[in-house]
Amino acid sequence: MPERKIILSEREIPKQWYNLVADLPNPMHPPLTPDGKPVTPDMLSPVFPMNLIEQEASTKRWIDIPEEILEILCRWRPTPLRRATYLEKYLNTPARIYYKDESLSPAGSHKPNTAVAQAWYNKEFGIKKLTTETGAGQWGSALAFACQLLGLECKVYMVRISFDQKPFRKILMRIWGAECIASPSNQTKCGREILQKMPDTPGSLGIAISEAVEEAVADKSGRTRYSLGSVLNHVLLHQTIMGLEAKKQLKIAGEKNPDVIIGCAGGGSNFAGLAFPFMINKINGEKIDIIPVEPTACPSLTRGPFAYDFGDIACQTPLLAMYTLGHAFVPPPIHAGGLRYHGMAPLVSEAVRSGLAAPRAVDQIKCYESALIWSKTEGSICAPETSHAIACVIEEAQKAKQEGKEKVILFNYSGHGLLDLGGYEKFLDGKLTDYVLPEEELQKSLNNIKNLPKPKIK
Ligand SMILES: Cc1ncc(COP(=O)(O)O)c(C=O)c1O
Repeated sequence: MPERKIILSEREIPKQWYNLVADLPNPMHPPLTPDGKPVTPDMLSPVFPMNLIEQEASTKRWIDIPEEILEILCRWRPTPLRRATYLEKYLNTPARIYYKDESLSPAGSHKPNTAVAQAWYNKEFGIKKLTTETGAGQWGSALAFACQLLGLECKVYMVRISFDQKPFRKILMRIWGAECIASPSNQTKCGREILQKMPDTPGSLGIAISEAVEEAVADKSGRTRYSLGSVLNHVLLHQTIMGLEAKKQLKIAGEKNPDVIIGCAGGGSNFAGLAFPFMINKINGEKIDIIPVEPTACPSLTRGPFAYDFGDIACQTPLLAMYTLGHAFVPPPIHAGGLRYHGMAPLVSEAVRSGLAAPRAVDQIKCYESALIWSKTEGSICAPETSHAIACVIEEAQKAKQEGKEKVILFNYSGHGLLDLGGYEKFLDGKLTDYVLPEEELQKSLNNIKNLPKPKIK
């Protein structure tokens, strides 16, 4: 009987994060100001603490994880690597399917891996309060948890549609001592302007980011900073602990590196955290298919151009070189709230641009069908975001069957869906529809970025 759980002891937790920037074949495009000049650390200092700004710009391959962060992570890490033998049997595939179970963290997803690190670095720098945005509430609850452990205040702007669809994560945030309000709100200038123009907007991560950044920067006492749950280099860096653990665990299972690695991609952090520690093997010549999966409703990687764009709707962030649908894009209210972001992490974008990863997009209905296959075989109920990865895993396992190949497939089980049952109910009642982004709408949104500086592509 094959082992279904591969467990590492606390002693075996990785002691360093892996920084892909050190090994990329092409240098990254630097963040720019709107007039095309490189952003300096000083410009970012009202938004982030200097210790995280340094990490953001670091080109060092390995970065030590401070002991106190490891101490907190060991509350739930290392997470198990599990083998999905029941799904394998159901699909009658020769593929061996492994998944990193990130649903076991206190907040139920991979997000606390960086929330704890970011709260710790902010505290070290003397910051007392963090503001942030959240989509489905996974990130907001993760940061609330981390801030509570480290004694920081926390304020979360939650995208309106998720605020209404997912009431329980708001309660998690309150339990962990954070304040959570619906975005757009009337507490910021940006929120008030948007509410005036679009009173019925479902909101978006781009809007919520603007509100959270505005509040942090407006506090001239210097005690508040902003924290982002995905997209930035230091966030992806903190998440590499997952891939580093998985690498050790696959060895223990007697496997070579995977043939296929899959993660859903909203801003790119869970995908990157699992995939980047294996990408170096791909750079060095191993054949690994690395697949970020996004919704057809919000297809930045599969349909957006690689361009410089703002990370938020109010254009307060630096310009980042990334695949984007345009910063003013308001995605339709699909249930995978954490995948409703107009852009993609610059590092994931660069990996896709240089052929190290090949993205796919999946429809909402297919994702829920796949989530149901998962719960009837493996038993657990996945987050709607995670179902995008599972839909792709099923496709790849079926492909392995057609080809008669014993492939090793690894994916990120990025979170559980126990607080996302509203979407499951709508699906079971036949009330969910697919939404593929119409080309005219995409072009209209991209008009907003056509006059911005362009990345110089070698
Ligand atoms: C469970 C889960 N998976 C995936 C994501 C997508 O984010 P990222 O692409 O940064 O991993 C989210 C975001 O909220 C999430 O909650």
